[in-house]
Amino acid sequence: MQTPVEGFSKWPKEEKIAWVAQQHFHDPKAAIGVLRQYLNEDKVLQRLHDEFTENALTNFYLPFGVAPNFLINGKYYTLPMVIEESSVVAAASKAAKYWGTRGGFKAQVLSTEKVGQVHFLFRGEYEKLRDFFLHNRQRFIVATQPLTENMRKRGGGLLELSLVDRTEEMEDYYQLYATFDTVDSMGANFINSCLEALAHSLKEEANTHLDFNEEERHIDIVMSILSNYVPHCLVRAEVSCPISSLNEEKNISAESFAKRIVQAVKISEIEPHRAVTHNKGIMNGVDALILATGNDFRAVEAGAHAYAARDGHYASLTKATVEDDIFRFWLDIPLALGTVGGITSLHPMVKLALELLGNPSAKHLMEITAVAGLAQNFAALRSLVTTGIQQGHMKMHLLNILNQLAATEAEKQEMITFFKDRTVSHSAVVGFLEQVRGKQ
Ligand code: MEV
Repeated sequence: MQTPVEGFSKWPKEEKIAWVAQQHFHDPKAAIGVLRQYLNEDKVLQRLHDEFTENALTNFYLPFGVAPNFLINGKYYTLPMVIEESSVVAAASKAAKYWGTRGGFKAQVLSTEKVGQVHFLFRGEYEKLRDFFLHNRQRFIVATQPLTENMRKRGGGLLELSLVDRTEEMEDYYQLYATFDTVDSMGANFINSCLEALAHSLKEEANTHLDFNEEERHIDIVMSILSNYVPHCLVRAEVSCPISSLNEEKNISAESFAKRIVQAVKISEIEPHRAVTHNKGIMNGVDALILATGNDFRAVEAGAHAYAARDGHYASLTKATVEDDIFRFWLDIPLALGTVGGITSLHPMVKLALELLGNPSAKHLMEITAVAGLAQNFAALRSLVTTGIQQGHMKMHLLNILNQLAATEAEKQEMITFFKDRTVSHSAVVGFLEQVRGKQ
């Protein structure tokens, strides 16, 4: 039985590994072997990774792939994609090639505003609080100025500060609602530091405010934190072309193809079960870019899905129309990204991914990432409304199945050739591999 452990975070790494192996594994030696196998021989690099997080035992690999030929706003890009799902990079590359001959992708940042809130309780009259806020608003802003100085020099900072009354939903509950522009950084630490300075100043000023009675002077700060819901940090990626140009599908006319895509998107607008999977496909592309560029995929995921439900009903993030014989397909997605700060200048692979993209600004990275999401969604819909998704998916999954079955390189080659024009399924692969092995 496992026993609680004291001061674990302070132990040397080797002791942590030994303890984890002894406590949790039938074969501790084998577990230690696997953990050690993933350590980097370069001690400096390993130390850097160890210091990213507490209790790091080893590293965890994901493939770093690239999808070339992305024509975005008239310029070609090769996208770095970190993802384990076998078909995603292939699908992105296919969509890039498809739209590359149809005018490419257009992308545009629509807004870059981020939000933070000081949530607090005030036991008194709203009008008195409002007057106090208006009287001291500038003072609160000044309290953040030592923190915002550098950001202001770069063209960002605290944009707006307002008081929000939420007492109808919760007794005595108000907010300081602040908006920020954090330029090229994701800005989470910057925003949170500003909010804590605002909260401190709010409390201090209230404490000595002559118009407040004893109870009113005691403002109760519940918490100060940025919001990952950023509907005004929004980017649009889109493609469009005459319907007659959508002419490459084998088993369907260009008109029917366009109509089917529009219908598929419409279904995702009205049907949440489908919308979640539809948006998951978009996030396949978005997350792969976000991971490669060292951004916070949990923040983006939370914000994107909240945006998808902004009308009180979860719906597709993409839209598609056919008007005057023009097919148009686009994605609006909130993306709070950074290209400076965080691990962007620390993680060698993140630095490499950013350089691969030409060291973009945060805005530019928003555009590229939205394009990756749109491309992924187009590739999925294109398969779904024509051949079905499994043909491509299973083809890409073939190597995983063969690796599970411990196929040799020669067997792999034979299997790949055999399945070139056949439908891949787990049982078909097992069956044919048995035949191949029987021959040997
Ligand atoms: C699989 O990772 C993503 C898809 O299910 C997305 C979709 O259905 O649109 C193929």
